[in-house]
Amino acid sequence: MKTALITGANKGIGYEVARQLASKGFHVFVGARNAKAGRKAAEEMGKKCHARSATALQAGGKATFLEIDVADNDSVKKAAREFSNSEDHLDVLVNNAGVVLDGDEAILEISDDLFRKTLETNTLGALRVTRAFVPLLRKSKAPRVINVSSGSGQLTDGADGWAPAYSISKTALNGVTSQLAAALPKFAVNSVCPGWVRTDMGGENASRSVEEGADTIVWLASEAPQDLTGKFLRDRKEIPW
Ligand SMILES: NC(=O)c1ccc[n+]([C@@H]2O[C@H](COP(=O)([O-])OP(=O)(O)OC[C@H]3O[C@@H](n4cnc5c(N)ncnc54)[C@H](OP(=O)(O)O)[C@@H]3O)[C@@H](O)[C@H]2O)c1
Repeated sequence: MKTALITGANKGIGYEVARQLASKGFHVFVGARNAKAGRKAAEEMGKKCHARSATALQAGGKATFLEIDVADNDSVKKAAREFSNSEDHLDVLVNNAGVVLDGDEAILEISDDLFRKTLETNTLGALRVTRAFVPLLRKSKAPRVINVSSGSGQLTDGADGWAPAYSISKTALNGVTSQLAAALPKFAVNSVCPGWVRTDMGGENASRSVEEGADTIVWLASEAPQDLTGKFLRDRKEIPW
């Protein structure tokens, strides 16, 4: 059975990606830093995917909670140990966990502390989770790493001033994607912009549903060619960095 770990999967885009992959027959690990919320999400997801999808039942799709705080190295290492107690390989890692912190408003006014905290989760978090799970990913026949980035980190058209620490953390995350793709030639490693999505982060006025936001991530996890790597994508197409 294919295995997938999605960080920050207790709600929002991460939850939807995990739900869709479980419906396709994956054994998904619902990564969450809050154990209560993560366990609840995994239970709900297991029931939903079996109710909606015959494929999930036939292929044995299931959802298991895994406690993981991507900003905490010890938590990440512990999660990798726990994962390897039940599975011998990981096929897909989705680095989805992300934050926009209160006060992330103007580049000349944000504190070093706010900047560091944002990078700790959005950029270093994805790198440290990948590092911890690489030995398990190497045991997959077709390992895939998907970094959930944002168009706000694109440099091509210039910044618009919105959430500078968050935006820079996503620019740097795209750098992590490019470096990992070079370091891991047998892997598919890509960044995805989900678009503006109706979640706690995106708000209720966002233009996309969680299903639309999850689409390219799920496609990269399950159907995209393995030699598609080192790219930034939106709507299943390459976009400029
Ligand atoms: N929504 C959008 O319009 C949009 C647009 C572009 C990119 N994105 C990206 O899409 C991803 C998912 O965002 P979303 O919209 O689904 O946001 P969301 O609903 O706020 O969900 C964010 C998830 O990340 C988790 N998280 C935050 N810090 C974490 C940490 N240190 N360790 C583990 N989990 C952590 C949260 O856990 P808690 O519940 O414990 O806080 C939550 O599960 C993010 O990377 C975001 O930057 C979103």
